[in-house]
Amino acid sequence: MTLKIFSKRNLGALALLAVSGLLVFWVASAPHPFSAADIPAHTANLENGKLLYNIGGCISCHASEADAAVPAGGKPFTTPIGVLYPPNLTPDPETGLGKWSNVDFVNAMQKGVHPDGAHLIPAFPYTSYAHMNVEDVLDIKAYLDGLPPVKNATKPHEVIALPIIRRGLGLWQWIGLDDAKFIADAKQSASWNRGAYFVGGPGHCSECHTPRTIFMTSDTSKMFQGGPHPDGKGKVPSLRDLVGRGRYKDPKDLVLAFQNGEELGYDKMSSGGMGEVRKNIARLPEADIAAIAEYVMSLR
Ligand code: HEC
Ligand code: HEC
Repeated sequence: MTLKIFSKRNLGALALLAVSGLLVFWVASAPHPFSAADIPAHTANLENGKLLYNIGGCISCHASEADAAVPAGGKPFTTPIGVLYPPNLTPDPETGLGKWSNVDFVNAMQKGVHPDGAHLIPAFPYTSYAHMNVEDVLDIKAYLDGLPPVKNATKPHEVIALPIIRRGLGLWQWIGLDDAKFIADAKQSASWNRGAYFVGGPGHCSECHTPRTIFMTSDTSKMFQGGPHPDGKGKVPSLRDLVGRGRYKDPKDLVLAFQNGEELGYDKMSSGGMGEVRKNIARLPEADIAAIAEYVMSLR
C-alpha cells in the first residue's frame, strides 16, 4: 500500500496551506507603530523626566557594567527565555539612542516596537509604560537626551530563535499589550490618583505583583494579588489588604518602609528585584512616595 498522503496533489495542497498559514501569521504579527503625526508637540519638562526615569526603574535594568549609575546598558538580565543584554539608553549616536526621534522612542515605550519594526521582548515593561501619558514618555526621552553620551555596544541577547520569537510577539501583543491610557477616578483624592498612575504606569508594579495567565499575559482578574515570580524563582507577595493583614499600620508606615527598607527593620522589601524597586521609589519626593503608599494601602 502506498502512502497516499504524499501524493503530488496532497503535497501541493499542503504547501498551499503552509504558505497561507505563514501569510496569515505575517499579517497578524505585523507591527502597528505610531506615525510622527500621532505624537503631540510638547515642551519637555526635564525635572518630570528625571522623576519618571526614577520611578520607571530604567537604571535597574539598563545600568552599564562599568558604572551602575549610568544607563549605558549591557548588564546581563536573566529571564526564563535566556539572557538579555538591555541596550544603551544614553544619547550616543552609534550604540545608544542618539539617532532616535520622539516617535521612535514612544513606539518602543508604548507599542513595544523598535524603529526597525521588530517587536521588543516584554521583559522590557512597555506593557505598563503603555498606560502613561505620551507627554510623560517624551519627558523621559528629554531627560535621557541630556545625559552624557557613552559609547557602549551591548552584546546580542542569548535567546534561541530570537527573530521568530520577536515576530511571534506581534501576535502576543494582541492579547498581552493593552495601551489604554490611565483615567483618573474623580471620587478619589489627587494624590491617590497620582499614586495609581505611578503604580500602574511608570512604576510597572503589576508586572511582578499580578500573576500571569498561561499565555504570560497579566491576569487582570487577580490584579496585585501576588503570585509566582516572573523570573521563575520564588514568590511575589500580594499588595492587597496590607493593613488588614497587619503588614503596615498606615500609609505613613509604608512610606517609611519604602524610604528605609531593612535599615528600619522592614522585611519583604529587599529580594526578588524589590530592593531595586524600593531604592527607585526612595529617590522620589516624599509627597510622591506618600501618593504611592496612599494608593497601595487602599487596595482591598
Ligand atoms: C525590567 C527590566 C527593564 C526595565 C525596568 C526597563 N527596561 Fe528598557 N529594556 C529592557 C530590555 C531587556 C530591553 C531589550 C528588549 C529587546 O531587545 O527586545 C529593553 C529595551 C529598551 C528600549 C529599546 C532600545 C533598543 O535599542 O532597542 C528602550 C528605548 C528602553 N528599553 C527604554 C527604557 C526606559 C526609558 C526605561 C525606564 C522608564 C526602561 N527601559 C526600563 C529591560 C528593561
Ligand atoms: C521585579 C519585580 C517587582 C516589581 C517591579 C515590584 N515589586 Fe514589590 N515586591 C517584589 C517582591 C519579590 C517582593 C517581596 C520581597 C521580599 O520578600 O524581600 C515585593 C514586596 C513588596 C512590598 C512589601 C509587601 C509586604 O507584604 O510587606 C510592597 C509594599 C511592594 N512590593 C510594593 C511595590 C510597588 C509599589 C511597586 C511598584 C512601584 C513594586 N512593588 C514593584 C517584586 C516586585
